[in-house]
Amino acid sequence: MTEVELLAGLPRTRRNVERRLQAKDPRVIEISRRYDEMYFDGPREYGYGGYRYDGRWLPVARDIVGHFGLKSGKRVLDVGCAKGFLVKDLMQVCPGLEAFGLDISEYALRRCSPEAAGRLCGGNCMNLPFPDGSFDAVLSINTVHNLDRPDVIQSLREIMRVTRGGKAFVQVDSYHTPEQRALFLDWVLTAQFHDYPEGWLQVFEEAGYRGDWAWTLV
Ligand SMILES: C[S@@+](CC[C@H](N)C(=O)[O-])C[C@H]1O[C@@H](n2cnc3c(N)ncnc32)[C@H](O)[C@@H]1O
Repeated sequence: MTEVELLAGLPRTRRNVERRLQAKDPRVIEISRRYDEMYFDGPREYGYGGYRYDGRWLPVARDIVGHFGLKSGKRVLDVGCAKGFLVKDLMQVCPGLEAFGLDISEYALRRCSPEAAGRLCGGNCMNLPFPDGSFDAVLSINTVHNLDRPDVIQSLREIMRVTRGGKAFVQVDSYHTPEQRALFLDWVLTAQFHDYPEGWLQVFEEAGYRGDWAWTLV
């Protein structure tokens, strides 16, 4: 169980916090949390501001494969897979790897990469529709923080249940200083639970989460 930076290869997206803050109101947040067209492909104020495949996850996929020692025939699950770009790239960098995804967004799943079609399913990370120990590694990037604290714990338990040998990686919203926290609060749309690393480590302990982790910082 260790902190590990697996998203280092991802290009940093520009975040105009001031613009986001100006546009943010309860209605915008409510629309974003539907995880439909506005969140993925609508204006940046509502979420991604357009999420199309551009290969940005390829270096991340390579790092994940290396970190977990994944190879042909192994099974990996991406919880909160959105349009399945990471699922596609994991299979591209590691031929023969059996990669799968789960997401709550019907909108995203219907627009998945053709290479990921048939490998993604709709569902809630609180209740993973897979048998115990059915994956060699489970990933969940910027997803479980979208639930409240008890549901985050439930989701982490589910991740531990379906993976083998505690092999998992979660990345979640955090901050190290009050200034970073203030900036994060201006930016955040969908996250319902967020905390300093100490608070997250307490959640991991309560959930019995034994996988690896990293923080998303604004
Ligand atoms: C910030 S996006 C992250 C997507 C992808 N992992 C990435 O890093 O680009 C959050 C994703 O979590 C999904 N999501 C939100 N709540 C969820 C839930 N309860 N169960 C499963 N997926 C959920 C959303 O639909 C969205 O695709």
